[in-house]
Amino acid sequence: MFVKSDSDSRTRLATWIRDIANAGGTGGLNWHVHAARSLQRWLPTRELIASFLSDIQTEQSHLLLIGGSAGWMLPTPWLARFQRIDAYDIDPLVPLLFGLRHGRELKALGVEVNYHRADAIAGLPSLLKQHPQACIWFDNVLGQVGVRLGDEEIAERQLNQLKSLLKGRAWGSLHDLYSGSVDTSMALPAYDAVEWIRLDDKPEDTSEVKLKQQVLMHQDAAQQLLTRLNAQGVWHDHATRTVFAPGTRTTMIPWAFKPNYWHWLQAAWVKS
Ligand SMILES: C[S@@+](CC[C@H](N)C(=O)[O-])C[C@H]1O[C@@H](n2cnc3c(N)ncnc32)[C@H](O)[C@@H]1O
Repeated sequence: MFVKSDSDSRTRLATWIRDIANAGGTGGLNWHVHAARSLQRWLPTRELIASFLSDIQTEQSHLLLIGGSAGWMLPTPWLARFQRIDAYDIDPLVPLLFGLRHGRELKALGVEVNYHRADAIAGLPSLLKQHPQACIWFDNVLGQVGVRLGDEEIAERQLNQLKSLLKGRAWGSLHDLYSGSVDTSMALPAYDAVEWIRLDDKPEDTSEVKLKQQVLMHQDAAQQLLTRLNAQGVWHDHATRTVFAPGTRTTMIPWAFKPNYWHWLQAAWVKS
């Protein structure tokens, strides 16, 4: 018989407390307090996300929602398209807060929501096997893989492999591509979504991107995005450049995470 030691229990308790506080730097109470206080400033971004999601046509009635947190930026009507949602997050507060934000409406519409406290990135192969008919939505979580691992290179390699793991499945992701400081003395940037298509599988310094209708070197395209937001200083690259295969039509969405710290989010949906 396997008996769990006191030290196992202590480690699990410590992880639980740390995940309530900040989920390894990617969520937790810090995130919920910031999100609740920023909902108004985030409205244009939330509308762009809702518009992106409303265009997705899914045949599947079962969704695996990964890193959805309380669904602060998710529209309830999109969630209500599914009959069953399995929500995976490492944050112990998710069942309570997702329930408060979306639960009552989803329940009234007959949507079954199951919560799982789990590392769904490490556990993805087994989740996919457990739920062979479900589609998958990574909800602003892949851009934090580098933060959790503390190593951007390993993160980039892991993230690059995701699409092979997901081959044959319907899936999508919204994630950070870049983030950094902006010059707040300038006029607020426009909240326009921009189309971005990576054209090849080359290394970043020789890769080309189609930004709107223009073919540009990756670095020049990235610089154009940053300039649109009045970027200043060095911006953080979230190692998500190769999450989607070359040729995937993606939508870039600006996000005023803080008044002086913005993100470019990238979203796309891959059909099975
Ligand atoms: C930026 S928040 C996402 C917020 C969410 N999109 C919303 O609208 O509120 C990132 C979420 O991913 C979760 N997370 C981070 N790494 C995870 C992992 N490996 N497995 C499951 N959830 C994870 C965090 O706990 C956090 O709730």
